Amino acid sequence: MFIKRQLFSFSLLALASLSAYATPQDQHIVVAPSCLVKPMPIHTQTLSSTEKFVLLKTDDAGINALIEAKQNKRASACGGFMDVTEEWNQLSAKKSMTSQTAKQFLIEQTKIKTSLTVKTPYQIRYEAQVNQLLAQINPQAMWGNLTTLTNFNDRYANSDNGVEAANWLKTQIENLAKQYNRDDVTVTYVKTGRYKQPSIVAKIGNQTEAGVVIGGHIDTLSGRKPGADDDGSGSVTTLEVARTLLASGMQFKKPIYVIFYAAEEEGLVGSGYVVSEFKSKNIPVDAVIHFDMTGYAYKNQPTMWLINDYTNKDLTNYLQTLITTYVKKPVKFTRCGYACSDHASWTKQGYVSAFPFESEFGYDNPDIHTSRDTMDKLSLEHMTDYVKLGVAFVTELAEPVS
Ligand code: BES
Ligand code: ZN
Repeated sequence: MFIKRQLFSFSLLALASLSAYATPQDQHIVVAPSCLVKPMPIHTQTLSSTEKFVLLKTDDAGINALIEAKQNKRASACGGFMDVTEEWNQLSAKKSMTSQTAKQFLIEQTKIKTSLTVKTPYQIRYEAQVNQLLAQINPQAMWGNLTTLTNFNDRYANSDNGVEAANWLKTQIENLAKQYNRDDVTVTYVKTGRYKQPSIVAKIGNQTEAGVVIGGHIDTLSGRKPGADDDGSGSVTTLEVARTLLASGMQFKKPIYVIFYAAEEEGLVGSGYVVSEFKSKNIPVDAVIHFDMTGYAYKNQPTMWLINDYTNKDLTNYLQTLITTYVKKPVKFTRCGYACSDHASWTKQGYVSAFPFESEFGYDNPDIHTSRDTMDKLSLEHMTDYVKLGVAFVTELAEPVS
């Protein structure tokens, strides 16, 4: 009760200074679960709150405080936070923000939008092609790529390392395109607002039809953070799917987007910009698969897990079919309970997304976000199973030609 009252009086104060213009450079608008936010550093204002969430205006120090609180709360069921500065700025450019509109904004941001049905039923149609590609996966190449990624001191979104890691991933795709004589591969940057690190978007194929998206996040937190599992594993899983496709020379009816997202750890910032760009350019997307942590197998169990919140139910069930058909490993469902990675940026903006995950939530790698997130804790076999899933997903949904 006391806390609620305190939040309320904070919000009255804050509203006096709600600006109709874009927030200055080091200010962030953040949606966070209430369990994460107390106590916060100065320069933090509560713009609005609901039973479970608060809308904060804060600065870089506030973001760091949230990251730290999240780390301390890992064992409890408190969720993560989302940086919604971009959306807030867009809205406040259109109308002046009152306590009413701030509240509406917060409610809108915390609603889970999952489109429940998809146009066409998902089927298994290209078994020969998928199996042909599965035989071409190169786990050793993937392990080598993970070694390179973990050798950056960190891949923090606002560090030069973080930028170099993004550029390294961009170069990998460009080199594959060159090596296999592909003139239908374009690799571009998507800027990440105030963060130095760009996201990388590679398009395979020059069709304008609705495409298929596969991705992972580049960044780690700052400091000596190898981020082998989070999310080096998902990044190299994605890269190995791309390598397998490009090396095969197989052509597809639909374009394939291979995406490395920036600044995920800062509140899904990079994917927010990427998805906004797809939206504003009217680039159609049929389905999204996201890889964030594919390397840690709890007690060496082979089970593959599917996250069933902030994801599309039909697509998630389809992943189960793909795993059973092609990977031939046990499958189970689990949930984060909050918008825990970039798949949620797609879901939030109305796209169909799915999120396969290394283990049951809560039994995942205990060393993420620390200097101990190293390769020796990971299973190459487990990671390879997710590459197989990625290859099957892309092939079945992008549809091979001939
Ligand atoms: N890879 C994690 C997400 C994750 C961790 C999923 C453990 C399932 C189990 C991701 O990089 C991350 O750290 N996400 C943040 C939230 C984000 C919005 C800042 C988190 O989970 O706290
Ligand atoms: Zn993380």
